[in-house]
Amino acid sequence: MKILLLGSGGREHALAWKIAKSKKVEQLFIAPGNAGTGTVGTNVSLKADDFEGIRTFVLDKQVDMVVVGPEDPLVKGIYDFFKNDPQLKDIPVIGPSKQGAVLEGSKDFAKAFMQRHGIPTATYRTFTGETLEEGLKFLETLQAPYVLKADGLCAGKGVLILPTLEEARKELKEMLGGMFGTASSSVVIEEFLSGIECSVFVLTDGQHYKILPEAKDYKRIGEHDTGLNTGGMGSVSPVPFATPEWMKKVEDRIIRPTVEGLAEEGIDYKGFIFFGLINVNGEPMVIEYNVRMGDPETESVMLRVKSDLVDLLEGVAQGDLDQRRMETDERSAVCVMLVSGGYPEAYEKGFPISGIEEVEDSIVFHAGTTLRDGQVVTAGGRVIAVSSYGKDKEEALRQSFSQAQKIRFEKKYFRSDIGQDL
Ligand code: AMP
Ligand code: GLY
Repeated sequence: MKILLLGSGGREHALAWKIAKSKKVEQLFIAPGNAGTGTVGTNVSLKADDFEGIRTFVLDKQVDMVVVGPEDPLVKGIYDFFKNDPQLKDIPVIGPSKQGAVLEGSKDFAKAFMQRHGIPTATYRTFTGETLEEGLKFLETLQAPYVLKADGLCAGKGVLILPTLEEARKELKEMLGGMFGTASSSVVIEEFLSGIECSVFVLTDGQHYKILPEAKDYKRIGEHDTGLNTGGMGSVSPVPFATPEWMKKVEDRIIRPTVEGLAEEGIDYKGFIFFGLINVNGEPMVIEYNVRMGDPETESVMLRVKSDLVDLLEGVAQGDLDQRRMETDERSAVCVMLVSGGYPEAYEKGFPISGIEEVEDSIVFHAGTTLRDGQVVTAGGRVIAVSSYGKDKEEALRQSFSQAQKIRFEKKYFRSDIGQDL
């Protein structure tokens, strides 16, 4: 089988690493990929949202399956682009239709979907420029802190949590006034939920689903969850509070109603669903949906998927996922992200990276790297994920931290408290 994987981050290197292990794979292409994906497959210099370029490539190389890493091509409708093309329609795309991708593309849609299907989530209302006054009044009915969410995609920056009513009022006016362009022309205001977060992933063929190992990610740049939000500074799997009892609640109250709800509403969805959950006094609630795997959760989750991922992806494509085996590795897996100094604000790129070949017994996933004259150099804020197994998370973390020391580039930074809160 020939597979084309779209994307270029640490998530895609981890997916590529896992896909490449499958005996079913004859050739793996990654578009555009990074310096790491090039070691497990063939990088193709095409952007993940260049649909025409992807079309030509897929037909030329006789690609059998397309796996989509990031949300952007999904929200732009790559699934539908394939379905509506006479020559591409039988080539499966792993990822939802454009309509399904709205679960991530619109917070208002996601909240209304959860309400329709009785899925536990924070109470909310959505406001626009026309209903600003009502929005300001609604804020007064809530307690601090206040949660404001731009309806559309904002590269992870669209959620504001404000400590005072005064700040919430001011930010609501600014958001509706175009702070995030059209993405914030609608704003969801919701109740603040207090608890620990956990990311749960499933693969679905639209009817059946398989639950992948859960993970917790670490979003803030600073130790003990301080400072600005990042794309994620590390991850840990399993999550101790995600006991079988808790996961049963997640399955009964959240996963099954979501998959059934999508089917009932006639939404074509064959791919990953990422449930961003929060544990409120032992009860799981949904913070958000994403229509892809998490990054950097994938860099620990893939280590714990024991089954052949390509077999599962085939099950998604063929609609017989219930016939496939999903086995989990009992060990712990963690990932520690090495980032460029300054990130998530301004940072420099192009620094040579050394020491990767000295790493022992950990897996190095490239996130923001590229090759310059044969030398691996930094090319993004999140640069390299160091992933490790351990009998427990402490052992896995010790391993990742010890190997993280060996990788060198100017202004390298990482959080040394990953997993400590659990
Ligand atoms: P999102 O982009 O929806 O994932 O939101 C970003 C982050 O904001 C989440 O990961 C949570 O840490 C936090 N957050 C979002 N909604 C809420 C909420 N209702 N209560 C508490 N924290 C929230
Ligand atoms: N780690 C969170 C995300 O991928 O959105």
